[in-house]
Amino acid sequence: MRVGILGSGLMGGKLGTLFARAGHDVVFSYARRKDKLTGLARRAGHNARVGTPREAAQKADVILLAVHWSRIDDVLSQAGDLAGKVIVSCSLPMNADDTELVVAHTFSGAEELAKRVPGARIVAAFNTVPSEVLFAVFAARKKTDPAQPSLLRRRPRRQTHGRWAHP
Ligand SMILES: NC(=O)c1ccc[n+]([C@@H]2O[C@H](COP(=O)([O-])OP(=O)(O)OC[C@H]3O[C@@H](n4cnc5c(N)ncnc54)[C@H](OP(=O)(O)O)[C@@H]3O)[C@@H](O)[C@H]2O)c1
Repeated sequence: MRVGILGSGLMGGKLGTLFARAGHDVVFSYARRKDKLTGLARRAGHNARVGTPREAAQKADVILLAVHWSRIDDVLSQAGDLAGKVIVSCSLPMNADDTELVVAHTFSGAEELAKRVPGARIVAAFNTVPSEVLFAVFAARKKTDPAQPSLLRRRPRRQTHGRWAHP
């Protein structure tokens, strides 16, 4: 497939690299520096290249949306009309410092995204939890039995509505 990457940071960079090495045609776009995109494409291999968000999106069979929630409107406006496109979104609806969800728990980021991109088919994926939330879990695991699934075993210290519950 032709995969357009909108947002080539941790998620877009890694997933785009996996897709390219698996044989898909990948276009990396949307980073603050062009050389970041160029380096990513070079390391991802001959199936990867660099483009603008519009170039990444318009010819794509599937688009990977991997920007911070605060950048969604910007990258979508650069990508152009995405009606009919399949958009796989790993963008979590978080505030600027990633401490709170800006969309309530009863209403998902995918639903909000669907309103902003009329006619697109939205798939939410790769977006259960930001890796930063897991840092404390990884640290705790080193001190306990590493064979245990920590996320299932440990309870949040404090449950605050609308906030990530840090284990
Ligand atoms: N990281 C995780 O473990 C994880 C897990 C699940 C879901 N998510 C969600 O996935 C989304 C992406 O996360 P991420 O960790 O991949 O974020 P990230 O590493 O910050 O990547 C975001 C991308 O957007 C680019 N960008 C930001 N501001 C820009 C601007 N003004 N102009 C052009 N490009 C700009 C960044 O450019 P630069 O490369 O130049 O910084 C980067 O390539 C977020 O919504 C996050 O909540 C992340």
